[in-house]
Amino acid sequence: MGTFTIAVLGGDGIGPEVTAEAMAAIQAVGTRFGHTFTLREALVGQAAIEAEGEAISSETMALCQRSDAVLFGAVGGAGVGRPDAKAQPENALFRLRKELALFANLRPVRTLPELLSASTLKRETLRGVDMLVVRELTGGLYYGKPSEIREGEGGASSVDTMVYTEAEIERIVHYAFELARERRKSLTSVDKANVLSCSRLWRRVADRVAAEYPDVTLRHLLVDSCAMALIRQPRDFDVIVTENMFGDILTDEASMLAGSMGMLPSASLGTRQTKHGQFGLYEPIHGTAPDITGQSKANPLAAILSAALLLRYSLSLTDEAHAVEAAVRGVIAAGYRTPDIAGARGRVVSTREMGAQVVARIAGAR
Ligand code: IPM
Ligand code: MG
Repeated sequence: MGTFTIAVLGGDGIGPEVTAEAMAAIQAVGTRFGHTFTLREALVGQAAIEAEGEAISSETMALCQRSDAVLFGAVGGAGVGRPDAKAQPENALFRLRKELALFANLRPVRTLPELLSASTLKRETLRGVDMLVVRELTGGLYYGKPSEIREGEGGASSVDTMVYTEAEIERIVHYAFELARERRKSLTSVDKANVLSCSRLWRRVADRVAAEYPDVTLRHLLVDSCAMALIRQPRDFDVIVTENMFGDILTDEASMLAGSMGMLPSASLGTRQTKHGQFGLYEPIHGTAPDITGQSKANPLAAILSAALLLRYSLSLTDEAHAVEAAVRGVIAAGYRTPDIAGARGRVVSTREMGAQVVARIAGAR
């Protein structure tokens, strides 16, 4: 019977709605398995900018540091590209990832038989897809300096910087090899080595690390070719490892295999251990979806599945994580659908109802 503290940052748009259902799922786990979860909520993103003057306050950062794990919703406001970083909602995420040293972002992509028709792709292509994308999260274009628009007399110019050190590449590639070892022992490293120096170094380091994992097969794929192969033969992939921005783009694409972004969870991990497990931040890969905010139309399953990853990695509660994942499969098998995965069949329900159905199954009522 454990006692755990989780920082909960719902954020903007549909973030708080889906996070509320993930919290309910965690509390249902507490009731069923006899654990005490203390969930401490704080503002982040646009909501924090308006109330506290910055995308994430030092107090909220400290709360996250003190907790066993962080459950995150989504951030983003109206508009893009405001130059003042403090007034940019996404800055909260960048600060959390960097300051908590969460360099490994795990994004599992699996297809459920009942949801094959929710995808725009053919069923035969989708059946049995089970891959894990390992996205480097604290380097590359997201953090390189300079990054700015330069106003000039002859017109503006702009610059972004991609930087990767050998050490950064090595630790994420190691991480991915370890994960591949526990799965089907096949690792695809994705880069753009025919154009980018960062990618050439990436490939060199990946080949070197590969020597330590003779039981795992490593192949290199250029990112454009990978984008194609993901749609053409998604079953060919086991573990994918790639740099920050390629991973961002490829996982939105891969989410379409699962039928919806609303189905894909993620775990962001580093090396810090707490007394319960590996410290981490857990978030659905989707964004704030302003078009459906406040209407209880969002799919809470990605957030709930993120909570399952939290239980597994940060709290070492394996049976509990399984219970949540089984509950999610149960509601899908029973035909409950939020609009994003509705397809031709199934009963369309609200965010709240979907969450309640999951909770009922965790509790063992259904
Ligand atoms: C993601 C998101 C973020 C990212 C945005 C919100 C900055 O797209 O987590 O995939 O690009 O990392
Ligand atoms: Mg993204």
